[in-house]
Order: sequence, then C-alpha cells, then structure tokens
Amino acid sequence: MPSTSTSTPGVRPKAFRFRCIACGDLSDQARQDFRCAHCGDLLEITYPHWKESGGAGQDLKSTWRQRRVSQSAVDLSGVWRFRDVLPGLENDDQAITLREGNAPLYELLQCARITGVPRLFAKHQGLNPTGSFKDAGMTVAATFARLAGFRWVACASTGNTSASMAAYAARGGMRSLVLVPDGKISWSKLSQALDYGAVTCQLRTDFDGCLRLLQELVLRAPVYQLNSINPFRLEGQKTLAFELLEQLDWQPPDHIIVPGGNLGNSSAIGKALVEMRDLGLISRLPKLSVIQAEGANALVRTLREASGKKLVSVKAETRATAIRIGNPASWKKAVHVLEATEGACEEVSEIEIAQAKAEIGAEGIGCEPASAVTLAGLKKLVNQGFVKRDESVVLVLTGNLLKDPDFTINFHRGELFKGTQDEEASAALNSLRRPPVVLDATLDAVIRTLEQAEK
Ligand code: F0G
Repeated sequence: MPSTSTSTPGVRPKAFRFRCIACGDLSDQARQDFRCAHCGDLLEITYPHWKESGGAGQDLKSTWRQRRVSQSAVDLSGVWRFRDVLPGLENDDQAITLREGNAPLYELLQCARITGVPRLFAKHQGLNPTGSFKDAGMTVAATFARLAGFRWVACASTGNTSASMAAYAARGGMRSLVLVPDGKISWSKLSQALDYGAVTCQLRTDFDGCLRLLQELVLRAPVYQLNSINPFRLEGQKTLAFELLEQLDWQPPDHIIVPGGNLGNSSAIGKALVEMRDLGLISRLPKLSVIQAEGANALVRTLREASGKKLVSVKAETRATAIRIGNPASWKKAVHVLEATEGACEEVSEIEIAQAKAEIGAEGIGCEPASAVTLAGLKKLVNQGFVKRDESVVLVLTGNLLKDPDFTINFHRGELFKGTQDEEASAALNSLRRPPVVLDATLDAVIRTLEQAEK
C-alpha cells in the first residue's frame, strides 16, 4: 500500500508558528511553559500560508479519503491521517501512534426520544486506545516532545491525561511524571498510569494545585509539559472535529456539545471548525456549546458575571472528577470559540449528570460521568429553546464507561447520593437503576429474578 499520499496543493503542513492569543505576537519557538514571552498569555499554533490555500478543501477531502485504504502507521491513525492540518513531521516514522482517533459516530435513538431531538449523535472519543479523547492530542504532543529531544514528559491531571501521557511516553521511549490530586481521581485512571510506567505523585491538593506546581516545575527541570496548555495537544485534539465532519459527509450539524473542564478540548474543536470553514471544507459553522458541572462552573460564571472578560475561578467539587477543575487554563480560548460559533455555556447538577449517564448507558453506549454532562446540558438547551427540535446535535463523549466503575456501581446500588442533600431527589432516578442481586445458585432463584424484571 502507498504510505505517502502526502502533499495537497496549497497546504504545506510543516510551516507553522506560535501565536499569542492575547497580543498576537508570532514566534517560531515556544518557551517551556508555552506562554507568550511578551504578555504571558497562552499560545496557539497557526499556519500563515493557509491564507493562500483557499481552494484546497476538495483536494484535502480526497487525500484523506484515499488514506483510509492505506496500511501505513500514520494513515491508520485517525489523527495523523489529517496531517495536512497539523504541524508537519520530517518523516512519517517520527509519529508516536497507537492508532488513536477513528472514533465512531453513533446515532442515539433512545436519548433522541428522551430529549425530543430526533437527529442526535454521539461521537465516542472514549473508544480511543487509552479510553479517552486525550489520545488524539497526546500522539501529536508526545511526538513533538521526542523530536525536541526530551527524556521526561510531565502533566497534571484529573486522570485521563495522565493515563494517555504515560502510554504515549512509554511507546515513544520516554519517561513520564504524573501529578494528580490525592484521592480525587478514579482508580482505573490511576492504574493505567502505573501500568504504563509513569512516576506517579498523588499530591495533597486539587487539580488546580497540581497544574500550578507543574508550571513552576517545567521552568526548573528538563521536563516537557503535556497539559493542554501545550498547543500541540490542541492540534491533535482538533482532528476529532475533522473526523466528525468527514463522518457526516461534510454536512455540518447544527450543534456540537462538549464537556468543559480545563477547556482545552472545546478550544481545540472550535479552532478546527473555524479552520475547516477557512479552508473551504464546510460552508457554515455548527454552534459549539460547553457544559460544566454546577460545582465546577468557572466558565459559566466567567460569562455570566464577567461577560467573558476575566476568569471567575471556583473551588471545584463534583463527582464527575474528570472535570473537577476550578481555574481552567484555556478559558480565554474557550470564550473566543463560543463567540465565534455562537454557542452556549450551561451547568448541570450532580443528579442530572447521573441520570444522563444512565440513559447513555441504557442505550448500549456508555461513558464516564464527565461525558454525560453533554446529554444533561442538551436537555437544558432544548428547554431554553437554544436547540430546536428539528436541529441536528452531536454530543462529544470524552471518556469510556470503564474509566470510573465506582460511580456506575454506586449509582446502580443506590449508594451514589446516600447521606447527601441529593438523597431524596435521587429517588426519581430509581427506574434507571439496575442493581446486581446475590442469589442462591438455583434455577428457581434465577427464573424468579427474570420474572421480576419483566414486571
Ligand atoms: N471529559 C473527560 C473524560 C476528561 O477527562 C476531561 C478532562 C474533560 C472532559 C474536560 O476536557 O479539560 O479539555 O475541558 N480531563 C483532564 C485530565 C483535565 O487531566 O484528564 P477539557
């Protein structure tokens, strides 16, 4: 099979620059903390020559289609298959890849009935190699870490980033250092980091404390930071939107809904949508909406109380531990993409998250709690009239059901809200619970259970 369908007229992937999102300063090098040398704000990656490549859209579509029959490692990756819109490699072998991306788009028939939105889909990023959307960004950022000659990579994490980083570091022959909040990430995610060989520090602080420490560490020690402050991460993550639009035959949905934590993913998807429009791949922008947990609603409050002008940070608390973040690093990027796509930002309660997660699970799809905020948020956006019933909607499910089995088991056993102020209200979810039963090993007992379930 040919491995190089490579170049598309007008699109030269190797030429990219860093641009500060606040002062617009352009540079060819980034500092270790990936902040602007002049004003200290975040950097993004930009491709200045794209301006001349207005008509490249059709060529790109056919290049990406052709690569789907190739067996080369970069073409089997659902991220590097779109390498024309990524920072380029000197040669394809440089990519550290686990065949990430390639995430299915499912129609959600039962959730469509529940929400009254008939054209409802889930883009399931939880079916990536380490079980979350982080892999799409990690393949690119880990690759550039190795190209820059780093032996150590590091991240602060609520669990998924650390699992992903540890895997890609191991595949790429690098060491990894993980900083996670002690007692606040799921065992599944922690176990992944351990198995993939990371040096794992459980710090007595929250995610925001871990991230603060990491940012100081990278200025003092020769470690390469792989949080989503690193703009290479966002370039990889943005391919989920390219893949989604390809799956929809380049017909944009009306809405894309994504969970918001540190706000890297929403920023990446929004960047991708604008780029697709600028490259002529799509003719209009879907509205991109961000949903947060009520207890970790920094972006919601930033928009409501400060009109998106300055960050309102919060002390985060939610059972959806992946998004238990009070001081999101990429808030400014997220505000920009909400403005550019005219999306909304909403918050949902712990009960609403648990209900939505069970509803997605009952459809045979399943996801982790943080991903379920999308369905819970959609219900609110429909009630507000922001999403119309005849519009098409894609929910981005960010993590696999198996990422947080404790949440799921506690929910079905009726223990998730026990002893909390939500206990009474959670009785409304009883019809969704499927607790396991312990029986004597007799035929009668099993048949009785079957009959009971039919009632
Ligand atoms: N969903 C899941 C399953 C996540 O793990 C995260 C973030 C998000 C949503 C939010 O994405 O931060 O880009 O807005 N997890 C990070 C981590 C912070 O360390 O694994 P975001």
